[in-house]
Amino acid sequence: MQKLKITGGRRLCGELEIQGAKNSALPLMSACVLVGGSCRLKRVPALADVHAAARIINRLGCKCRREGKDILIDSSVLTGVDIPDDLMRSMRSSVIFLGALLGRTGECRLSYPGGCELGPRPIDLHLSALRKLGAVITEEHGTLRCTCTGRLRGTRIELSFPSVGATENIMLAACTAEGETVISGAAREPEIEDLARFLNACGARISGAGGHRIVINGVERARLHGTEHEVMPDRIAAATYLCAAAATGGETLIKGAPAEHSGALTDVLRQAGCRVFESGRGLYLTAPARLRAVPMIRTCPYPGFPTDAQAVVMAALTRARGTGMVVERIFENRFRHVDELIRMGADIKTEGRVAVVTGVDRLSGAAVVAPDLRGGAALCVAACAAEGETEVTGLNLIDRGYEAIEKALTELGGKAERVSG
Ligand code: UD1
Repeated sequence: MQKLKITGGRRLCGELEIQGAKNSALPLMSACVLVGGSCRLKRVPALADVHAAARIINRLGCKCRREGKDILIDSSVLTGVDIPDDLMRSMRSSVIFLGALLGRTGECRLSYPGGCELGPRPIDLHLSALRKLGAVITEEHGTLRCTCTGRLRGTRIELSFPSVGATENIMLAACTAEGETVISGAAREPEIEDLARFLNACGARISGAGGHRIVINGVERARLHGTEHEVMPDRIAAATYLCAAAATGGETLIKGAPAEHSGALTDVLRQAGCRVFESGRGLYLTAPARLRAVPMIRTCPYPGFPTDAQAVVMAALTRARGTGMVVERIFENRFRHVDELIRMGADIKTEGRVAVVTGVDRLSGAAVVAPDLRGGAALCVAACAAEGETEVTGLNLIDRGYEAIEKALTELGGKAERVSG
């Protein structure tokens, strides 16, 4: 079992090139299976979740291999429609292959993605939308069997909540449906726009992605083809490193960080006393020696404050002057980092989905356990600002979303190393 040793108390000052976005790379890899040709995805981060997606693609009989920062996927031949249970369990977002396989072959079998560390994560919105498109879905012994005879049929789908995964699954399935599909109440996350750009370059006809209403005009499967596409930069990894710099009173340039997709985060960092601006090369931040508390942060669907950045911002604010409140409105169980931050000396009280953070003068290094991907990243942020050494176990969870986090923190002037045992 690998862990991370971080020696805190250094100002993080330096530059870092941001990785490609995990939450874009995964749906794009699934889309490669839909289009049935040769695709090159550029700037794909080397992450455990990307590796799991590559294994799924290979198990479906397609070819997927890495070439430097790129991933090449050839899905001209597809021999299976089953997503194995072990891979379904290792990455909940493998459910994104459902829409792609239905659109490609009219068939898919996968195990039911159970609850996860963030609380129950149902897929009812995905399934009801796919049923509306004409898929027949049955569940037996924990396996979902999805079929349709002939092509799916375009329809109107109104999402009661702008689910990112459901919006992506519908887009993938509807690309080859007969006629027009209209999604209203769609998620507006930039990763959805990235997926639409890729699919359109492959011959699909999607408009409105990035807005509440997405229109997909179905095309014959044979009209789809491969393409080359660069994965968009990771706004959440960028948020994490900006927060690490902010927590240490540092100064940093996150090269390639997408300012246009980071507005809610940069507003909060400015309220905390940082100077943040777009430099033309990325996002530049200078932080005061001690941050100011931010009275209220509420996570919301995009363009609101992202739930994925909640934990890292909270970690940065544990040493702020004053008291602030964080309300988590997207996931039920997304405060699991709080107990670990308290071990490091933070003063945080939670009640349901609300956390009250009172800044303390100092954090101290401790042995802590990453509770989940972003919670683990939050512990790294706090560790950079803490006195002494912090040992973070559960590095496998952090590796799901951060490409060599220890190297990134070191590049920024921190002291972090990966150790075994
Ligand atoms: C995606 C992101 C994840 C991010 C989340 C919210 C990927 C790979 N993951 O996850 O990092 O935290 O968006 O921005 O892109 N829900 C239902 N029924 C459904 C689907 C969702 O009730 O059928 C609920 C979920 O339980 C959750 C909320 O909707 O409470 C948001 O989920 P969703 O937007 O679907 O997130 P994911 O696509 O799973």
